[in-house]
Amino acid sequence: MASGGWAVEKRASLRNEESGSANSLITVPETGCLSIVVLGASGDLAKKKTFPALFNLYRQGFLNPEEVRIFGYARTKISDDELRDRLRGYLVHGKATSAEYVEKISNFLQLIKYVSGSYDSEEGFRLLDKCISDSEHELWKHTVEGSSRRLFYLALPPSVYPPVCKIIKNCCMNKSARGGWTRIVVEKPFGKDLDSAERLSAQIGELFDEPQIYRIDHYLGKELVQNLLVLRFANRLFLPLWNRDNIDNIQIVFREDFGTEGRGGYFDEYGIIRDIIQNHLLQVLCLVAMEKPVSLKPEHIRDEKVKVLQSVLPIKDEEVVLGQYDGYRDDPTVPDNSNTPTFATVILRIHNERWAGVPFVLKAGKALESRKAEIRIQFKDVPGDIFRCQKQGRNEFVIRLQPLEAMYIKLTVKQPGLEMSTIQSELDLSYRQRYQGVPIPEAYERLILDTIRGDQQHFVRRDELKAAWEIFTPLLHRIDNGEFKPNQYKPGSRGPAEADQLLERAGYVPTHGYVWIPPTL
Ligand code: NDP
Ligand code: BG6
Repeated sequence: MASGGWAVEKRASLRNEESGSANSLITVPETGCLSIVVLGASGDLAKKKTFPALFNLYRQGFLNPEEVRIFGYARTKISDDELRDRLRGYLVHGKATSAEYVEKISNFLQLIKYVSGSYDSEEGFRLLDKCISDSEHELWKHTVEGSSRRLFYLALPPSVYPPVCKIIKNCCMNKSARGGWTRIVVEKPFGKDLDSAERLSAQIGELFDEPQIYRIDHYLGKELVQNLLVLRFANRLFLPLWNRDNIDNIQIVFREDFGTEGRGGYFDEYGIIRDIIQNHLLQVLCLVAMEKPVSLKPEHIRDEKVKVLQSVLPIKDEEVVLGQYDGYRDDPTVPDNSNTPTFATVILRIHNERWAGVPFVLKAGKALESRKAEIRIQFKDVPGDIFRCQKQGRNEFVIRLQPLEAMYIKLTVKQPGLEMSTIQSELDLSYRQRYQGVPIPEAYERLILDTIRGDQQHFVRRDELKAAWEIFTPLLHRIDNGEFKPNQYKPGSRGPAEADQLLERAGYVPTHGYVWIPPTL
């Protein structure tokens, strides 16, 4: 048993299994002190994503101030108020700042305490444990009944995960006789290749049980990624179409219109495949390609995702194009001879009955002409083209993950008018238009809430991670050894021309004379 809380956690999950519904975890109330510890509180991710997500949860009533306390931990020596002042700017950012909103921010910030300490000695963590225990006793004295729940969010470089996890285990576990749990949230990149990821998994696995470990991939928290299962398995329309008989090729694309600004040092060590493709895009691929799970229980879903990953064939050299944008090496934190790709197109092939022969084109790049992430499913040509319209384009189903979330199906229709001619058009579900005024939650909000509720559906299981690294490790080693060189491309372009040529070879047929224009309100 890794903690006193494990039994409680197990009971909660048994209750969920008994009720068996999609929303079962949401209906299981877990009460008691909730201490959320953000390790690396002074960092980029913490201030830009973690704390703002916690604030949004608080604002919407998901973090009850009578139960919750938040602790920031990092080496930087600052006071509680200094951390609060640093964070304040990220909470007001882009939001209306009515007096009520400003008061909410102040009330939220008062829930935060800061503890300074190192990541490799017990002293700081003992102090952290004392602060958490003191706050628990304080809350228990006044209002809160129930258990002690401790959530450790590691917004840290992966190199310090093992020592930090070990010290948390030694110094900061929930020891309360009232029960509860201790959970660990770890960020990507989780390892650099198969061996290092397995080593890391083994080190953390010795300290914590799998139900206590939440490997976060924030793409799994995006609204349209979460919609994929519903879309695929709750719509009769798609069931007969979703296979090699009807689909010609699938693209999963990530583009950013800015470079590695400020993160060149980190990025150069990892590159675009480890940063985006091996995790974010591969997770999306799993949800697009998996078979219907037995139920919506996290383990059933993750079992199906693992099967997809295990069915991926080895990547062929001729189905990879790498790129590096001009000027990338000008960053002083990037070596002059860096071979790190900032762009990659990689074709994956899934060896099973549903997908044999269908290329899954995963494409990601920095410093490109636009920012977007989407899934583009291109259908085969209609046999017997009596309208002679095939050259106009094929049916495509596009799921725009961001920005301007949308789904649209590109269709051939009759051109309105007296002539019998055809044009390309679309059935369009644009979220901003269809769900006006409905805020779309940030991925991190949703995922942090899941960790509090103990729902691991949208987190990466250990065997899933292993299978993901198995796919990319041989290619990554060849790039690391300089055997595979990136092509140069201009910032603000579509990436190397070779990538579009590869896409064409994979069978993608661009639509002519038609561009989808996102509706404006
Ligand atoms: P940072 O580089 O900002 O590091 C976070 C904190 O860790 C720093 O404030 C610093 O705190 C501490 N730290 C930095 N370097 C070291 C070191 N060598 N040894 C010990 N401690 C160190 O990382 P980010 O916040 O950008 O990201 C955190 C994690 O989240 C990373 O694994 C990253 O890949 C991942 N991630 C980041 C995203 C982003 O948008 N930034 C998005 C998705 C994932 P101090 O020195 O005060 O202790
Ligand atoms: C992170 C990557 O995981 O995702 C970054 O490390 C990237 O390089 C970011 O910019 C993109 O996230 P989003 O949600 O803006 O698509």
